[in-house]
Amino acid sequence: MKYDTIRAIQWQDHTLFLLDQRKLPAVVTYLEYHSAQQVSDAIRDMVVRGAPAIGITAAYGVVLAARERYAQSADNWHETIKTDLQMLAASRPTAINLFWALARMEKCIAAIESDPFDRLLQEAKAIHEEDIAANRMMGEAGAALIEKGSAVLTHCNAGALATGGFGTALGVIRQAWSEKRLSGVYADETRPWLQGSRLTAWELLQEKIPLSLLVEGAAASLMKQGKVQWVIVGSDRISANGDVANKIGTYSLAVNARHHGVKFMVVAPTSTVDMSLDSGDAIPIETRSEMEVLTLGDRVIAAEGAGAWNPVFDVTPAELVDVIVTERGVVSQPTAEKMLAMMKNH
Ligand code: MRU
Repeated sequence: MKYDTIRAIQWQDHTLFLLDQRKLPAVVTYLEYHSAQQVSDAIRDMVVRGAPAIGITAAYGVVLAARERYAQSADNWHETIKTDLQMLAASRPTAINLFWALARMEKCIAAIESDPFDRLLQEAKAIHEEDIAANRMMGEAGAALIEKGSAVLTHCNAGALATGGFGTALGVIRQAWSEKRLSGVYADETRPWLQGSRLTAWELLQEKIPLSLLVEGAAASLMKQGKVQWVIVGSDRISANGDVANKIGTYSLAVNARHHGVKFMVVAPTSTVDMSLDSGDAIPIETRSEMEVLTLGDRVIAAEGAGAWNPVFDVTPAELVDVIVTERGVVSQPTAEKMLAMMKNH
């Protein structure tokens, strides 16, 4: 399919392959994974990142764990695999897709009585394929909301690289581009990991979709000058009332968008919705090493002795969100009631 050429997660020959996102765009290389320990390290170290991609990768990690545990002991692998599930769950805290995928694999494990490999691989592949299908549906639903001739701003990377394929926010942008609705695409560079300038730019250019990068600090001016009509982002976790956790800086964009009359769209599958949390205040926010802020690549850029604060996600309150697009429907001006009705809609 046009505009859909990238797959960051691949299962081939009994092995998991992950596109090493730390090396993009300079080097395009896939690494091989054979154990749950390796997979958990890959998630923590950002070889693979983005909420749905983390969940899918963890599901394949469970397949690798089951193969190892069953080979060690066909009698008590149900017991020993629990350590692997816990290790995978501890890799990153914010994206609910990780815990959602592990819970789904765990449910499957409980029902297996013989060699678990084929059944668990089938489940992991289903999680992967369902994610791509959801992205395509959200792409169409989101693109339909964008008036012809609009320009959009996105943040971080919520694309094929961050999902099973096609992407959430970038799925909408791909689709809208293919329908010739867009006059321009802007992307924040997204300090400190530069998911915007490294990953979103690489991904869109692979599909020959042109874009302009900006530093986060330029977003308000971009909006003030009327250069964008929509901000379109993904999410790591959405609470039951429609509050949205996403890459740090998303909240600033939402505040700025409201001030300037720019519309704010969140695109996320229902595997990102956490109905157990009443509000975004309860979403655990990952803090990473201060070295990520003090350095750029391998180079220290901050004055020696400076400390740093590095929360890597923030929460945008539902009242600043114009629309949440999921594969089960579109929620405008989200509230707890509207979110519940959408989740019930299968
Ligand atoms: O730290 P990252 O790169 O894993 O953060 C990713 C994001 O914040 C994405 O916007 C989010 O996971 C949605 S991906 C479809």
